[in-house]
Amino acid sequence: GATRPRISVVGTGYLGATHAAAMAEMGFDVMGVDSDPAKVAALSEGIVPFFEPGLPELIRTHVASGRLHFTTDIVEATAFADVHFICVGTPQARGSNAANLSYVEEATRSVARNLTHDGIIVGKSTVPVGTGARLRSIVAGIVPAGISTELIWNPEFLREGKAVDDTLTPDRIVLGGTTALSEAVMREVYAAPIAIGTPVILCDLPTAELVKVSANAFLATKISFINAIAEVCEAAGADVGVLADALGHDIRIGRQFLNAGLGFGGGCLPKDIRALIHRAGELGATKAASLLQQVDEINMSQRQLVINMAIEACGGSVLNRRIGVLGAAFKPLTDDVRDSPALNVAAALHLRGAQVVIYDPEASSTAQRMFPTLTYADSVEEAATNSDVILVLTEWEEFNSIDAAALREIVALPVIIDARNCLDAAHWRAAGWRFTGLGVAPVALTPMIPEHNSLSRLVPVQ
Ligand code: UDX
Repeated sequence: GATRPRISVVGTGYLGATHAAAMAEMGFDVMGVDSDPAKVAALSEGIVPFFEPGLPELIRTHVASGRLHFTTDIVEATAFADVHFICVGTPQARGSNAANLSYVEEATRSVARNLTHDGIIVGKSTVPVGTGARLRSIVAGIVPAGISTELIWNPEFLREGKAVDDTLTPDRIVLGGTTALSEAVMREVYAAPIAIGTPVILCDLPTAELVKVSANAFLATKISFINAIAEVCEAAGADVGVLADALGHDIRIGRQFLNAGLGFGGGCLPKDIRALIHRAGELGATKAASLLQQVDEINMSQRQLVINMAIEACGGSVLNRRIGVLGAAFKPLTDDVRDSPALNVAAALHLRGAQVVIYDPEASSTAQRMFPTLTYADSVEEAATNSDVILVLTEWEEFNSIDAAALREIVALPVIIDARNCLDAAHWRAAGWRFTGLGVAPVALTPMIPEHNSLSRLVPVQ
């Protein structure tokens, strides 16, 4: 029979490193390429330069099995493989909403011009619709004579913190722009167990590109929707958490991504919706642009809201006030602080003269690299000591086991703002804290129905 395709993966960030390891797990021989020699050296020893649960183990297993190699040499990797995955970043361009496509373009060029035999170039990076078509014409112009290649798009939907599971058990596999040949190769690449029960969607190149971008835009919209409703809840004395639970029972809505709070951040959602705003604008598609503009604005306003709540809790000014910040990562289970709402709020309060002390279980060192002037603690207690207010800005699981009564003893003032609605308000209030969440009335309301009213005769006597 035919030999199994060999795989190269260009770019070894969250996406590429996880994809390379997953392909090795599937039994393929894989070469990961990165221009950063330090990253390549670390990965070759099974060291993952970022926090991603389960990934170091998977990489170590397959570096040891001999199926997974890393190199800085794109020429070597391209000569080695038959299927070349492009997994480099598409960050937001400086001073613009547009995505910076220079890495994707350069990676694709490098592969195309160094092809030594027929092969398939598979774009996985998140790109503005139309990029694949442009890359195809670039590739056609530089591929060596006598070699045939195809360029297809296969977007990736993995979440940080769950990257390994998401890659090995995806919700769907989207293949854009395939021929019969590349479809057959891709079906082999995503053979069992990944393929078992996984829908495969075959479509054209622009649809594949846009599936990914719209998935992220929809998730972002859900979050800004619930944050908009949270504002109404707060004004009306309703509880957005209970409301979200009730909404979530409707399977057309679903409970996920309806947690009101500080809003979305990270390396994907914010820049992806901005890139879509930009691209939709270029295409004259004004509805998507204006809808997502609102989503972005609502999201950013949540950060200002929490900053204002902290200022108000400190009596109008945070100057020289001590603020304990719990959480720096853009979400739990990652050490990623790219566009982190938590760090954004912490830095803004620091700029206003507060003494901000931050604790995060995993992200302190990445945060420190980005914001070296902020102060970092090694524990919740250290961050809380003598604080005038505590802000919970990332919903790490370990914050749920904080002993509110014990913590009360070490703070200056027992005031806490739960900007992720992740703590048990009753537990904190019972321990004597002034506890505020987002999208809930700040103080318990007096019951509207007095205890002894005419309705009580309808309640059966026990
Ligand atoms: C996202 C997409 O989920 C993933 O499919 C895509 O491939 C990349 O972008 P990720 O950036 O890892 O993944 O984070 P995600 O888990 O989606 O969370 C994004 C942000 O939304 C976080 O800042 C999180 O705190 C916030 N969020 C999420 C909310 O504010 N409320 C919610 O209900 C859910």
